[in-house]
Amino acid sequence: MQSLSILALHGPNLNLLGQREPGIYGSLTLAEINRLLEQEAIKLQAKVVAVQSNHEGVLVDAIHDAVGKHQGILINAAAYTHTSVALRDAIAAVNLPTVEVHLSNIYRREEFRHHSYISSVAIGQISGFGAQSYLLGLQALVHHLREKS
Ligand code: DQA
Repeated sequence: MQSLSILALHGPNLNLLGQREPGIYGSLTLAEINRLLEQEAIKLQAKVVAVQSNHEGVLVDAIHDAVGKHQGILINAAAYTHTSVALRDAIAAVNLPTVEVHLSNIYRREEFRHHSYISSVAIGQISGFGAQSYLLGLQALVHHLREKS
């Protein structure tokens, strides 16, 4: 089976997971979520490289740098989901299959979270299942990539 590498991109404030609004985002830290992703990737015969940044341009650069290194992108753009044309354009530019994930169900929350700039350039979105959103997103992305090849 072809070995796949997935870039897991985490946006602003997700470095604070575990202590940040645990009633909304759960009690796992980002390091724990990354560990779960690595374990899931092994089961799927893939690997995950995780990057977190609070800076939009760093996330844009990481998307550009993914070309030739990774076959797909799993992204929780966090607040940039709702604001960033730059991230949307970067994903469209590199043309790597991308799955959008959110810990919380963004459609059950404030109205400003209902719009995602990412969803129109993603193959799909998973929202509302806590850390499971990431694992489900990884499964969906790897299945999508394997079906394509
Ligand atoms: C989030 C939802 C966003 O609205 C919010 O800004 C985040 C996290 C989530 O995973 O539920 O920072 O992307």
